[in-house]
Amino acid sequence: QEAHPVVIAIDGPSGTGKSSTSKAVAARLGLDYLDTGAQYRAITWWMLSGGIDIHDPAAVAAAASKPEIVSGTDPLAPAITVDGTDVSGPIRGQDVTAAVSAVSAVPEVRSRITRLQRTLAAGAPRGIVAEGRDIGTTVLPDADLKIFLTASPEARAARRSNELKGNGGTPGVAATREALLKRDAADSGRTTSPLAKAGDAIEVDTTELTLEQVIERVIGLVEERKQRV
Ligand code: DC
Repeated sequence: QEAHPVVIAIDGPSGTGKSSTSKAVAARLGLDYLDTGAQYRAITWWMLSGGIDIHDPAAVAAAASKPEIVSGTDPLAPAITVDGTDVSGPIRGQDVTAAVSAVSAVPEVRSRITRLQRTLAAGAPRGIVAEGRDIGTTVLPDADLKIFLTASPEARAARRSNELKGNGGTPGVAATREALLKRDAADSGRTTSPLAKAGDAIEVDTTELTLEQVIERVIGLVEERKQRV
């Protein structure tokens, strides 16, 4: 018999291994993958490129529906384009990272991006792993499985700093830790759809776990769910 598409929501702050975990789980289970942070980064990149004052919520709101954002959902090659331009690289830059919390706090931006996310999830033939901050609480509240990843600030800063080094940057762990905590506070403190653990999400603390252990834990939880339905 045809299994119904499985929807997995993975939320949590940055540096918890969300993206690596979500991509690997999607690839191993043959599901689509959606990086919702990349969508907020892409719209932020477009606003910065167009000279829109990202600290003016009215200007951001007025522009929110203008760029065409297309997310690739292949976990092995999740490219993202804005008006046809591949921005997968530029959206990881420091300027975008510093601006994305302000842009993603604007309700018009959130409703636009949330609509895109729900359309992609509904169209995934075998199901989807969607990662972000508000997937379990707001975007896909009926997800089959909700995971909330956490880790100590030290572990998260160390991971982020390593990742940035891999991209050719040279940020210290202390500076990374500060930037990361600042972004978490903004993402958790905003009025519209803040970073939060859904009541029915399973929390996984990744501080002492390897990536492989986290992936196995999540896949184990998916298998458990399947047996119960
Ligand atoms: O996961 P990330 O670091 O690429 O996310 C970038 C920013 O996008 C994050 O600081 C807050 C915002 N974001 C959001 O508001 N809601 C989501 N579902 C995902 C990301």
